[in-house]
Amino acid sequence: MGELKYHIITYGCQMNIHDSEKIAGALYELGYNNTDDVKDADIIVFNTCCIRENAENHAYGNIGALKNLKKLKKDLIIAVGGCMTQQNGAAEKLKNKFPFVDIIFGTHNLFNFKQLVKNKLETGKSIIEVYEKEGCITENEFKKRTSYPNAWVTITYGCNNFCTYCIVPYVRGRERSRNINDVVNEVKQLVAEGYKEITLLGQNVNSYGSDMNYKINFSMLLKEISAIDGKFRLRFMTNHPKDLSEDMVKVMSESDKICKSVHLPVQAGSNRILKLMNRKYTREDYMYKVELLRKYIPNCQITTDIMVGFPSETEEDFLDTMDLVKKCNFSGAFTFVYSKRSGTKAAEMEQIDELTKKERIIRLVDLVKTQNRTKSDIYKNRVIEVLCEDFDKKKNMYMGRDEYGRMAYFNSDKSLIGEFINLKIIKTGGISLVGEIV
Ligand code: SAH
Ligand code: SF4
Ligand code: F3S
Repeated sequence: MGELKYHIITYGCQMNIHDSEKIAGALYELGYNNTDDVKDADIIVFNTCCIRENAENHAYGNIGALKNLKKLKKDLIIAVGGCMTQQNGAAEKLKNKFPFVDIIFGTHNLFNFKQLVKNKLETGKSIIEVYEKEGCITENEFKKRTSYPNAWVTITYGCNNFCTYCIVPYVRGRERSRNINDVVNEVKQLVAEGYKEITLLGQNVNSYGSDMNYKINFSMLLKEISAIDGKFRLRFMTNHPKDLSEDMVKVMSESDKICKSVHLPVQAGSNRILKLMNRKYTREDYMYKVELLRKYIPNCQITTDIMVGFPSETEEDFLDTMDLVKKCNFSGAFTFVYSKRSGTKAAEMEQIDELTKKERIIRLVDLVKTQNRTKSDIYKNRVIEVLCEDFDKKKNMYMGRDEYGRMAYFNSDKSLIGEFINLKIIKTGGISLVGEIV
């Protein structure tokens, strides 16, 4: 038998990508190395997402496709984890649909993944371990990081907000903040190792510390991390508009490490819909936060998430969303069609028809694209500093973002990955920029 290999397939958000780095770390410690070829793997792990129905369908399709490989390769271990398995009854459903799956583990069982694989190897028996209660917060577990020069650092797990459309609080549990010293030490260590961009992760980073009985908040955390020596960039996501504070904006404006871009999901521009969504802010509150950011940080780039087709959304509600998008002048937006998630409050509300949803998303995407283009134009002939992040196979060029989060492509070589470089922008068509190293 040759060297042992793992292959991980990840769906969903940055949080999940980072969880996959922990899964990879555990497997590495068990003697496995990564392979990009599924057929070559001794263990295949699906780290699933269930935020929308299509994310689930993707995973189901890809797990099903492994049936034959499993028949050919008896010793192959197939494991399914992530948010999908944590839904009510999902583990049993998975087991029935795919009896060849060896390990099913929940998000609350991630900390124990290494032991589950060991048990499987020792007993040969299939394992289902999905706790209803949150698992413990583990520190110092080995992570096989995959995104140099960026490194993700979790600051909070779970979510307490229960937006009525959202499955996350059900599959990730209540909000739990990591100890401030643990977070700061992890960042220090990463900077010492040469990481140039740190992205703090939480479903609502702005409420960091609110679950602790001593006084710690997100601004304090940002201040401490900004004080760490060395040249690196600090980003964070996701911000919840209801908890974004003036104090935090001030800290941001005063720090030369914190990038001047904020991802601030608005979801909808109609007060009636925002209320039904349980977002706990109005469109006016939201626009005030946008103003606040631009007051302290004049060039601050704001990106957002927007959803169309929430239950009972009327044409008038939708036009409110379009109007807000025009007024806020976002530099980027992820746009989604509402997807019914069973177990959430919105699933019980009056749904609207698919055709209307489709028609609205097309109009919204159009608007967002137009806004983006005009934002790119102002970059022409400017010199910007980007962090060279990776090689883009499709474009056959290297890529990097400036501190405002704008992506630029350029000719370079591998040795510059992880370096800050100056680029003169020579082309600005579309969302991304093309530049030359100066
Ligand atoms: N915690 C983050 C969002 C995490 S989910 C926040 O509060 O902003 C990422 C995005 O997926 C959300 O911002 C929302 O726009 C979208 N989303 C969540 N549930 C959805 C659903 N049921 N249907 C469609 N989009 C959804
Ligand atoms: Fe979901 Fe709302 Fe929590 Fe974000 S804040 S994860 S949208 S419940
Ligand atoms: Fe992320 Fe999807 Fe879970 S968006 S938190 S992986 S449901």
